[in-house]
Amino acid sequence: MNVCFIMYPWNEMNPEDDSTLAMIHEFVKRGHGLAITTPANLTIRDSVAYAFCRCVTRKDKIPGSLKAFHAKTEFYDEMLPLAGFDVIILRSNPPLDMIMLNFLDSVKDDVFIMNDLDGIRRANNKMYTAVFEDEDNEFIPRTHVTKNKEYLKKIIKEGPEKMILKPLNGYGGSGVILLEKSAMKSINSLLDFYIDNKDGTSNYVILQEYIEGADQGDVRVLMLNGKPIGAMRRVPGEEDHRSNVSAGGTVVKHILTNEEKELCRRIGPKLVKDGLYFVGIDVINGMLVEVNVMSPGGITYMNRVYKTRVQEKVIDFVEDKVVERVNAFERRKKLRKHVDEA
Ligand SMILES: Nc1ncnc2c1ncn2[C@@H]1O[C@H](COP(=O)(O)OP(=O)(O)O)[C@@H](O)[C@H]1O
Ligand SMILES: [Mg+2]
Repeated sequence: MNVCFIMYPWNEMNPEDDSTLAMIHEFVKRGHGLAITTPANLTIRDSVAYAFCRCVTRKDKIPGSLKAFHAKTEFYDEMLPLAGFDVIILRSNPPLDMIMLNFLDSVKDDVFIMNDLDGIRRANNKMYTAVFEDEDNEFIPRTHVTKNKEYLKKIIKEGPEKMILKPLNGYGGSGVILLEKSAMKSINSLLDFYIDNKDGTSNYVILQEYIEGADQGDVRVLMLNGKPIGAMRRVPGEEDHRSNVSAGGTVVKHILTNEEKELCRRIGPKLVKDGLYFVGIDVINGMLVEVNVMSPGGITYMNRVYKTRVQEKVIDFVEDKVVERVNAFERRKKLRKHVDEA
């Protein structure tokens, strides 16, 4: 089959730690045709969506290590119609490029797109978990999303000693701060900084209950088709409260607790319903902090600590999905012929 990745530029990845590269490597090893492109390379020609692609040159021998694969892969350039691919895999970093989704809307009935466009639209920022149904806050922390500074100050004043403030759209731990009541004198300045832009627009922020136990790290679970396929614990460095690897966290093995398994069971069906087939969830003390749907990472770290190859499961799933679609198409074609000839 032919696969197109819409992703960040090839040269910007760190080959040893890149989950997208691990997936591409597996597709290429299995002999599939593979092209990569970026959101900025999408183009409409005569009402048909195309992409300026870099196609991987087929070779007999594929290097085993990601580093060598990254260094040795050769490409040739082609302008290709998106509807001609069997699969499109979206792996771009936030913030979400809405125009990219408009391009892809025109091909969504022809190609299996992972994750689903409408699911990504719904879940591309931290609002997705904030509105998850969980009235008693059994697995979603108490969360406020607003631009209203007076409201935020009131909640902070009335709230517990520690709270978390973060931008709605961040990733990699960027802008996630631990607020302590003792720092109340800085609140006005902080809220101005987070909410007001110089150009007169404003940003939403999230104010969230601080989940006890976060200093022990958070758990990243990769969910495929609504079920966990791998987990790891990220432990924050000495000098930070955040667990993100990009913020200095380190990765260790983690076996899912019963509470975490229950959380996966509760959210899995909704993820699948929203077409969010491959996501990374962040969990602290059994509470869901975030669902990463755009370019969830963790594959390479899990592979290293468990000596496994998580990407194989992801590619198996994609292959099954494509076979399912091809079979359905063939069946319809046969039935249509039957009716035609009647
Ligand atoms: N409510 C919270 N309580 C405690 N720690 C938190 C909370 N929210 C975020 N953190 C810490 O900050 C990190 C990054 O937050 P997250 O919401 O996952 O945003 P990002 O998209 O930047 O990864 C988490 O992995 C965790 O270590
Ligand atoms: Mg996170």
